[in-house]
Amino acid sequence: MSLFPSTFENIQKAAQLLKEGELIAFPTETVYGLGADAFQEKACQKIYTLKGRPTFNPLIVHCFEKEQAETLAIFGKEAQKLADQFWPGPLTLVLKKKKTSHLPEIVTSGLETVALRVPLHPTARALLKAFGGPIAAPSANRSGFLSPTCATHVLEDFQTKLVMVLDSPPIEVGLESTILDLSEETPILLREGGLEKERIEVCLGQKIFKPQKISKITSPGQLLRHYAPSLPLRLNVGDVKPNEGLLAFGKPFLGSKISFNLSETENLEEAAQNLFAFLHFLDAREDIIGIAVQSIPEEGLGRAINDRLRRAAEGSKH
Ligand code: TXA
Ligand code: MG
Repeated sequence: MSLFPSTFENIQKAAQLLKEGELIAFPTETVYGLGADAFQEKACQKIYTLKGRPTFNPLIVHCFEKEQAETLAIFGKEAQKLADQFWPGPLTLVLKKKKTSHLPEIVTSGLETVALRVPLHPTARALLKAFGGPIAAPSANRSGFLSPTCATHVLEDFQTKLVMVLDSPPIEVGLESTILDLSEETPILLREGGLEKERIEVCLGQKIFKPQKISKITSPGQLLRHYAPSLPLRLNVGDVKPNEGLLAFGKPFLGSKISFNLSETENLEEAAQNLFAFLHFLDAREDIIGIAVQSIPEEGLGRAINDRLRRAAEGSKH
């Protein structure tokens, strides 16, 4: 049994395990993270092995506050502004790594940049405080599979291979953080996520764009086949077949034996919160042959939701 409620004692224990070079899983407001001491090379190596993650795909380094992040990377004006407004929260900034950062190469896959984030979830914050240093953590799922939004998802993926999963009530955002690259002259949106692009644009007073061509790193976040459920997905459907499960949004279509509604009131925040849990539920059903997904508007959080759904649909074709 490796599920532990997020009590003070268990958080202290988790911090101790991290110091000893172990991995632990913990909730953040976006998805669960699989954490290691960011300064211990061997511990970070374990993350790649356990997830089955290619070592060319760098990790996000989680910090307790901006001041800690500033010891690892160079913050320009834009980074300062965004960090002041949106940290703690679901925004990851890719910045030039400081030569004095002492981060092992494996954390950044040898890149000269580092991805930094200050999470909002109280358990993540308490853990970062108790640990006292930065924690490298990707999402706590096997590479290429659905992201975990509750502790049992983490257990399903890793079974007894993890000594500790800190458990918490449902998490608030439910989609991975938005990743913004500020290491070059123009800001680049590497991943749509829990913080809407529009809010970043208002803060910076400029439009932001996705990369024009695939960048130097090929990350699962950028690969089309990602978040792969085992059942095929049909997107933007106009109907549902009796042997399909339905992932509804708004007024649900009739005719399916099993349906989950992301948000009856068409609230995108609620839909984001529910997305991975409902996909997990539907994907575990053995009495359906596929998942039909009603259309979701391509705006605000809807863009990140549609991005995950497209990747899931693409992944399930293989
Ligand atoms: O919400 C989140 O961001 C969650 C929680 C646990 O914080 N973490 C997460 O990590 O989603 P992961 O590893 O699943 O996704 C991290 C993404 C990857 O696509 C990786 O390629 C990208 O961040 N990344 C990390 N460092 C980078 C860098 N230096 N330059 C560009 N992309 C980077
Ligand atoms: Mg991930």
